[in-house]
Amino acid sequence: MKRTGGTTESKRRAGERAAEAVEDGMVVGLGTGSTAAHAIRAIGEAVDAGLDVQGVPTSYQSRQLAVDAGVPLVELDEVETVHVAVDGADQFAGGDLIKGGGAAHAREKIVDATAERLVIVADPSKEAATLDRPVPVEVLPDARPLVADRVAARGGDPTLRSAERKDGPLVTDNGNLVLDCDFGAIGDPAALAARLSALPGVVEHGLFVGLADEILVGHEGGVDAKKP
Ligand code: A5P
Repeated sequence: MKRTGGTTESKRRAGERAAEAVEDGMVVGLGTGSTAAHAIRAIGEAVDAGLDVQGVPTSYQSRQLAVDAGVPLVELDEVETVHVAVDGADQFAGGDLIKGGGAAHAREKIVDATAERLVIVADPSKEAATLDRPVPVEVLPDARPLVADRVAARGGDPTLRSAERKDGPLVTDNGNLVLDCDFGAIGDPAALAARLSALPGVVEHGLFVGLADEILVGHEGGVDAKKP
């Protein structure tokens, strides 16, 4: 799926503002993507300056970024809670999100749902009145035909995501495939989320409904904080 644009400066402002929410002693969910990457680097700088935190990565990408930035890591099953998670989004409308442009949405949803507070970082290109981007759906490889048929029967248009610089389909960090499912404008995200979750073979979909506590939108003049 084509990733959305947005300026590096807007993303940097949002990511760095989110890093300010991280306090001494916290366990922090580390989101995936170019905007969350700015937060991870900023958290790394704070660790260099003496901040004591542990990060829970949501993907190979965020794990590697955290290692490079010097953020100590911990597994989700080793902690009692995640105090705050900082993550990006491909699109948001109110507090509902579409994620998975980087195919990391399954682990992101687990970490984000565990977090006591989820801070989404975005640039202005991500905001919409109604969610209408294709919804990434991670599927077990054997389930691809079944899920594609069921999505089509429910009015969606599924496209198997291709890998870049590898022949054939994209394979997720979990060894699965991704169907980008275009439903047009999504009038009722909660209902669609429930329908997708109910399909056999679906590992996770990219609709994050009602999870975000705060959305930080970076722009040329600063950062707008939206509370859904
Ligand atoms: C990863 O699968 C996604 O959910 C990302 O969080 C999302 O694609 C946002 O990425 P950018 O910040 O690079 O736009």
